[in-house]
Amino acid sequence: MARTVQFRFLAGHEPSNLIDLPWSVPLEHWDHPALVRRTRGQSRHVVRFVHLGTKTFALKEMSEHEAHKEYGVLRQIRAAGLPVVEAVGLVTGREAAEGGALDGVLVTRFLDYSLPFRYLFSIEGGAPLSHKLVDAAVVLLVRLHVDGFYWGDCSLSNLLFRRDAGSLMAYLVDAETSQHRNPLPEGMREHELEIARENFAGGLLDLAAQGMLSSEVEVLEVVNMLLERYGLLWDELTGVTEIDAREKHLIDQRIRRINDMGFDVDELVMEHDPAGDRLRIIPALVEEGHHARELRRMTGLEVQENQARRLLNDIASYGAYLARVEGRAPPPAVVAARWIAEVYEPMVAQVPEDLRGRLEPAELFHELLEHRYYLSEAAGYEVGNDTGLRSYLDSVLRFRPSEQALFLED
Ligand SMILES: Nc1ncnc2c1ncn2[C@@H]1O[C@H](COP(=O)(O)OP(=O)(O)OP(=O)(O)O)[C@@H](O)[C@H]1O
Ligand SMILES: [Mg+2]
Repeated sequence: MARTVQFRFLAGHEPSNLIDLPWSVPLEHWDHPALVRRTRGQSRHVVRFVHLGTKTFALKEMSEHEAHKEYGVLRQIRAAGLPVVEAVGLVTGREAAEGGALDGVLVTRFLDYSLPFRYLFSIEGGAPLSHKLVDAAVVLLVRLHVDGFYWGDCSLSNLLFRRDAGSLMAYLVDAETSQHRNPLPEGMREHELEIARENFAGGLLDLAAQGMLSSEVEVLEVVNMLLERYGLLWDELTGVTEIDAREKHLIDQRIRRINDMGFDVDELVMEHDPAGDRLRIIPALVEEGHHARELRRMTGLEVQENQARRLLNDIASYGAYLARVEGRAPPPAVVAARWIAEVYEPMVAQVPEDLRGRLEPAELFHELLEHRYYLSEAAGYEVGNDTGLRSYLDSVLRFRPSEQALFLED
């Protein structure tokens, strides 16, 4: 009996013209005008990208069973507010024109401005980059574990990176092996780290074998750093602190340290031992995005954590500048509104159309600030935003590929 092709989509996310795609042909043999090329990581499955309507999607061909499972887990991870590619649909029941069942297809939204690690190594290889990759992976792993997700396949190719004010933020792509168990047993966390460590080493050694890894990168040191930094962040976020119950300011101190690491404490457990008048404090619910939430509240801008930190600093210095030239400090809400209207938006608007997709606006702003700082240092006086921007566009941005939808030949 002929099979019927089934399209299961999140309501409101159905790509237009989806049913017109050549579903009766194996994905690797498609020849269709909607196909677009994107730089991507290595994979066992066939993964191709299509641009439909105004959006780009990644299609991954895999057994229907695997596709169902991955669709479910990706949705669950995303519902927890974690950085992961957005699964929007499943295609099943495919049949080849000449008969015979074809595999299913998992459909995810293409993650704009996402950069595979090989691309990053090809443009800025070296020890600082490997440290940034480790830091980004550590934050993702800790966030997953805090929320009870075991990934089971953390590797450099299964992460996508987005620039974040000079550092990187990692997104999970590929969740075939994930499970949810809250709280996550210690053994599973350890196992996860073992896998991550091995896969990271494998990814870096592959690069080295292809002559793409600078000799200053010590693979062993990088993978050991992964364990070490994971341990530090995990302990800071979840560890028990015991204090003298009369020193309650130490509770604030603990929360502030967690905030400084970019996390909010949503729930705190305190246990009082009257015998020694000791307090045990245990963060019970922590969530990444402390500065990002504050910036969103003040300005409505949606950016990543480090970008938010950077923009908040710039808002604060704009506030100080306004206080100086106007003789009194406007209230914080006014400073934020004026900063958006007088600094941020005019800058973004001045970027010519053809350079827009090169970097996310918040990242561009961060790079502009850096660029202006170096220009000012070299000039010995404060270079203005407009001069800084012109110089940045002509000497830096113009020479960068469009990272919104990256495609570079190998
Ligand atoms: N939604 C997406 N946005 C951007 N890039 C994507 C997306 N989905 C997949 N990719 C790219 O395709 C690559 C392969 O995807 P994925 O890792 O899911 O395939 P896989 O065959 O399951 O991999 P593995 O061999 O690790 O099992 C990724 O490394 C990533 O570069
Ligand atoms: Mg993969």
